Amino acid sequence: MSPADLFRERFGRRPSLLVTAPGRVNLIGEHTDYNAGLVLPAAIERSLVVAADAGGSPRIRLYAAAFDAVAEFSADAPGEASLPRWARYAQGVAVYLVLRGIVLRGLDAVVAGDLPIGSGLSSSAAFEVAVALTLERIAGVTLPPRERALLCYRVEGEFVGVPCGIMDQFAVSLCRRDHALFLDCRSLETHHIPLPAGVVLAVCDTGVRRALQASPYGERRQECREAVRLLQQRRPMVTSLRDLMPDDLPLLDPLPPRLRRRARHVVAENARVIEAARALEGGETGRLREIFLASHQSLRDDFEVSCPELDAMVEAALEAPGCLAARMTGAGFGGAVVALVEREEQSRFLEVVEDGYRRRTGRRGLCFTSAAVGGARAEAI
Ligand code: GLA
Repeated sequence: MSPADLFRERFGRRPSLLVTAPGRVNLIGEHTDYNAGLVLPAAIERSLVVAADAGGSPRIRLYAAAFDAVAEFSADAPGEASLPRWARYAQGVAVYLVLRGIVLRGLDAVVAGDLPIGSGLSSSAAFEVAVALTLERIAGVTLPPRERALLCYRVEGEFVGVPCGIMDQFAVSLCRRDHALFLDCRSLETHHIPLPAGVVLAVCDTGVRRALQASPYGERRQECREAVRLLQQRRPMVTSLRDLMPDDLPLLDPLPPRLRRRARHVVAENARVIEAARALEGGETGRLREIFLASHQSLRDDFEVSCPELDAMVEAALEAPGCLAARMTGAGFGGAVVALVEREEQSRFLEVVEDGYRRRTGRRGLCFTSAAVGGARAEAI
């Protein structure tokens, strides 16, 4: 059933607004966003969709199809309700919009769509951004997409309490069709990098799950902070690992070996994002295989966030027809591999990669291809 039909069924009238927020996949630049570094995500065709209409009361009522659950809170004092975890993302968005001075109105909304929840494709960022756009539109305001992305980022970290970088909310908000988003997480400067014609994105999910909170994600962030603290003893100007260039790698020598490896990954990965963006812009797609592979190896060996299933999926992808490049994507410890694949070969690619993954691991991977799409949008219906 479409989100609009679901809305009609639940609320007995037609929705007046449809908001779509896509998931994202990161092409390269992993574990760099919280180190003030560089990332290159793209938005994918799978999305969360909100169908909504202004309500007759000052209450915000949300039905989430994925949880078959309703959450309700007041538009004037959204922070007062005690809500289940999934709904706190929406509540936090409302609280921060009110703090921003926006007068919210009551509304009814259904959240549905085909973006899988919790599989590393930024369903939480898509949810936050979709809810923000819905609340804004019904209140008759529109924040600039960057401001919305920053607000949602703060909601996730401060209100819900899940540590995350800034990449996801930016990708969901700002991506452009057929482009990847080059984002400098320090200056927040962005460039849209065209993807080669005839190439699609492939997302190859290992089926292995680990939520950010339960994973060593927080530990990696802490290790990066500790590396910076030690580096500052000799170079007080260093405020993040972003301040180091590949030429500065000898500076890492005195660090304890584990921190040296973590820092080496971040420094080299920032350089690879620039290389990959240049290769894409210059049409040198032949170079991407090596750049992606170096990123995967660095995440596996230096940053230690891969797992046997991700390694197996990368191998399976690299031997499948039409594959230009493949690497693990997102936080790691499970989740998905991203690949760039020739459009003409996509069905054979999917068949061979799923088969290769099953042979290697005995597990069923879930793989799909997608065009790169634009960021979140709202339309009156
Ligand atoms: C998760 C976070 C992102 C980023 C990646 C690692 O997906 O949500 O902000 O830190 O991990 O690159």
